[in-house]
Amino acid sequence: MYEIIQKLHSGWAYLALLVLVIAVVNSFLGLSSKKEFTEKDRKIGLFALAAIHTQLLIGFIVYFISPLGFSQLGQMKDAALRLTSLEHPLINIIGIVLITIGWSKHKKLTTSESKFKTLSIFYGLGLVLILSRIPWNLWF
Ligand code: HEM
Repeated sequence: MYEIIQKLHSGWAYLALLVLVIAVVNSFLGLSSKKEFTEKDRKIGLFALAAIHTQLLIGFIVYFISPLGFSQLGQMKDAALRLTSLEHPLINIIGIVLITIGWSKHKKLTTSESKFKTLSIFYGLGLVLILSRIPWNLWF
């Protein structure tokens, strides 16, 4: 069970990060070229949101069954265990919250520029936070 969920969390991360990078690049390009915010742009943002929420869900499961997750929460002196049991989950949850806020905010805005700007800032910050706390040595 643990191995399946761990592999799913590891594999889905490629897809989730790829779609998130596409959404960030797309919103920056839309903002800089002052183009109209279309249904395609909305869908790209929505796919990124859905992919990252799925990753969050799998993350919660893996956190409680992994030997590197919740069970190691007290191990503050070991940098690798601190990363997987505290920093990675906490910072990534904050990143995902920012992405979710960006998505809800953009829906209430009316101009294309403000939509692209909001998605660029919130999705961009979320991506930076997530990338800052990936356990890269476990992944590759
Ligand atoms: C966008 C969000 C996230 C991304 C992109 C992500 C990505 C990753 C990656 C690439 C790894 C290394 C996988 C491997 O071992 O091959 C990993 C490990 C891990 N993640 Fe996440 N993660 C995310 C969110 C979360 C959340 C929210 C939690 C917990 C609530 C979590 C808990 C863990 C744990 C415990 C491990 C170590 C698993 C193990 O090897 O036993 N992750 N994550």
